[in-house]
Amino acid sequence: MTQKSGMTVVVTGASGRTGSRVARAARAAGLEVRAASRAGGFDWADRATWAPTLRGADAAYLVHPGDVGSPAATRGVGLLAHEAVALGVRRLVLLSARGEVQARPTEEALRESGADWTVVRSAWFMQNFSEGPLVEELRLGGELVFPGGAVREPFVDLRDVADVVVAALTTGDRYVGLGIDVTGPRLLTFGEAVAEVAKAAGRELTYRPVPTEEYGARLAGFGEPPEVVELLVDVFETLLDGRNAHLSDGVRQVLGREPRDFTAFATEAAAAGTWTP
Ligand SMILES: NC(=O)c1ccc[n+]([C@@H]2O[C@H](COP(=O)([O-])OP(=O)(O)OC[C@H]3O[C@@H](n4cnc5c(N)ncnc54)[C@H](OP(=O)(O)O)[C@@H]3O)[C@@H](O)[C@H]2O)c1
Repeated sequence: MTQKSGMTVVVTGASGRTGSRVARAARAAGLEVRAASRAGGFDWADRATWAPTLRGADAAYLVHPGDVGSPAATRGVGLLAHEAVALGVRRLVLLSARGEVQARPTEEALRESGADWTVVRSAWFMQNFSEGPLVEELRLGGELVFPGGAVREPFVDLRDVADVVVAALTTGDRYVGLGIDVTGPRLLTFGEAVAEVAKAAGRELTYRPVPTEEYGARLAGFGEPPEVVELLVDVFETLLDGRNAHLSDGVRQVLGREPRDFTAFATEAAAAGTWTP
């Protein structure tokens, strides 16, 4: 029998914003990465695909598509974690959202599985401005419409989130049974963040705050199902009420360095043409 050279980690959402960076950071740390995507045969909606993905691995990074606070995430994470533990994949790291009370049942479902768990609770991603559903209206329409009011948020670079996830996986038991809150180094309003993006992109871009209910109606207009709209309105009302307007030191505690700053993120993404119409 060949000796296993290193840890094999299943990375869910490997084609997505966090999973792709977790996969990269894990490979850089010498881990063997098993990318779990629908294209590769893993589907959160199909339990029959879970065991073939998990079997023989040592650990898994769990990111549920949609929202971590959704009932689907609670059910999926709980069932998958139980299955992973039964297969001997005990080390599980879940991506959750900082301050999101709606995500607590999902975190609890992970804990109840008996896994050696860690929950990484992320602030709002910097990359929400450069990847994903908000980018096109900013790039093409020159405006970000969002229910962020004038609340301040410590936007975090996803490379820091990924580095924290991988450090949690590779430092033995140190982070087992713990939640780690990760933020960037600076509080910015959504207006200030868009101004940073505009400066880096060298063009005029604006932020238009709207009430959460109005934003929900916009989402419904884009075809989001009513239950998704209801959850997102509830989550945004929670996350954007000021409870998260403070810094956490998870990046410094785990990585021993400062988190990346928004200006560096914006400069890099602008140079890559992200906001060029
Ligand atoms: N946005 C924020 O600021 C923020 C902050 C904190 C926490 N979060 C949490 O972050 C999570 C989203 O993470 P993300 O931004 O990395 O996601 P993402 O970029 O939207 O990627 C979602 C990934 O999930 C995969 N996927 C979609 N449906 C799937 C299915 N049925 N089965 C298997 N894979 C599926 C997609 O891959 P394929 O299409 O290739 O299968 C994709 O790789 C949510 O749980 C959210 O609550 C977000």
